[in-house]
Amino acid sequence: MRMYDLIEKKKQGGHLSDSEIRWMIEGFTKGDIPDYQMSAMLMAICFQGMNERETLTLTLAMRDSGDVLDLSGIHGVKVDKHSTGGVGDKTSLILTPIIAALGVPVAKMSGRGLGHTGGTIDKLESFTGFTTSLSEAQFLDNVNRVGVAIAGQTANLAPADKKLYALRDVTATVAQPSLIASSIMSKKLASGADAIVLDVKMGRGAFMQTLEEAKELASIMVNIGNGAGKPTTAVITDMSQPLGNTVGNAMEVIEAIEALQGHGPSDLMEVVFALGSCMLQSAGRVHTREEAQKMMREVISDGSALRIFADFVEAQGGNPTEVFHPELLPAAGQKLEVLSPADGYVDSIDALAIGNACMILGGGRVTKDSVIDLSVGIRLLVKTGAAVDKGNSLAVIYGNDLDKCRQAQDIVQSAYHIGQRQVTPAPTVYQVIEA
Ligand code: URA
Repeated sequence: MRMYDLIEKKKQGGHLSDSEIRWMIEGFTKGDIPDYQMSAMLMAICFQGMNERETLTLTLAMRDSGDVLDLSGIHGVKVDKHSTGGVGDKTSLILTPIIAALGVPVAKMSGRGLGHTGGTIDKLESFTGFTTSLSEAQFLDNVNRVGVAIAGQTANLAPADKKLYALRDVTATVAQPSLIASSIMSKKLASGADAIVLDVKMGRGAFMQTLEEAKELASIMVNIGNGAGKPTTAVITDMSQPLGNTVGNAMEVIEAIEALQGHGPSDLMEVVFALGSCMLQSAGRVHTREEAQKMMREVISDGSALRIFADFVEAQGGNPTEVFHPELLPAAGQKLEVLSPADGYVDSIDALAIGNACMILGGGRVTKDSVIDLSVGIRLLVKTGAAVDKGNSLAVIYGNDLDKCRQAQDIVQSAYHIGQRQVTPAPTVYQVIEA
């Protein structure tokens, strides 16, 4: 087989066979196929697309390029949850202890933030001593003992995706549905869960900008998961404005703790309950979404989800006292308010711009190796649809460098669009897509 012929075939709109795709991924992972040929293939895929069969084969070949975790040592049905990435998305921090408190084991692989989007691992590192570098044995033991463990992606989990993603990032070939779907699903399938629930974000702060695009991505991923024998559900949720009221690592952890104490903002809790219902249904724990919601509310109000969160933090080396005293978590030294320039109504809040403002404060990574400041962030005091008067506080910037705070202040001010007519905010949860 020659890579040249496969590129030519895809360029002409042909379909790659299973053996061609497997040969290509194996060769690329080993280093036999150079980056320039794979870049040409990625661009051809961007223009010609891939059909369902090609996308499934690509995903399975990427999954099989490295280790596939064996979670059979964990009792019960293991359900994983994954978000396609957003701003202010602290859902996993709230959802995982809730699900564990309901007796469904959570063995989760999470990532770090890159660019304007946040990552669960960075957020959790706000706890003194917290680590996600667990051996496989520790990981399994923690899930069995505590109910939940969160690990970082190990070096040999879907290595083909690592190489491909790095190439896509610099060749303008990230935003192609089959490529995004195979990238996410290869890692999810390699991390060994029995069932998968996906949060597909849509809007300014997400990869998918329209409902049509989000539905397409969600359907592709659901088909891949089910095609690989893992029941998969996708929930399409809004990312036109940030989720909840905080953006920034430690600030989001505090908001998650407040949510576990029963004081979560309504948009955030709607996403938590929608995803949680799907997880509990996939685990066979409930029949209806109403039943699932009721059970989730119970473990919040009786404090058991918060206690599991503290146990989980402790089991991974963190200080559980900080869960009950979040004022001990990293806090920034400077504070600037963002004021409304006019009377009117909040028309929209550009999630991408808010994510970028947080990055400028030092709360996000510019490159994979950037060191981030966990204390900085933005608190949104009003969200889309709210009435404001000129001079009212829209948001507060928390930082450690006054120049950066001022830059962030300008960006956040422009991210808020104030109109003259009250708009109805976009739905928080759009649609659930199942097999
Ligand atoms: N997240 C991934 O892991 N891969 C993509 O391609 C996009 C988002």
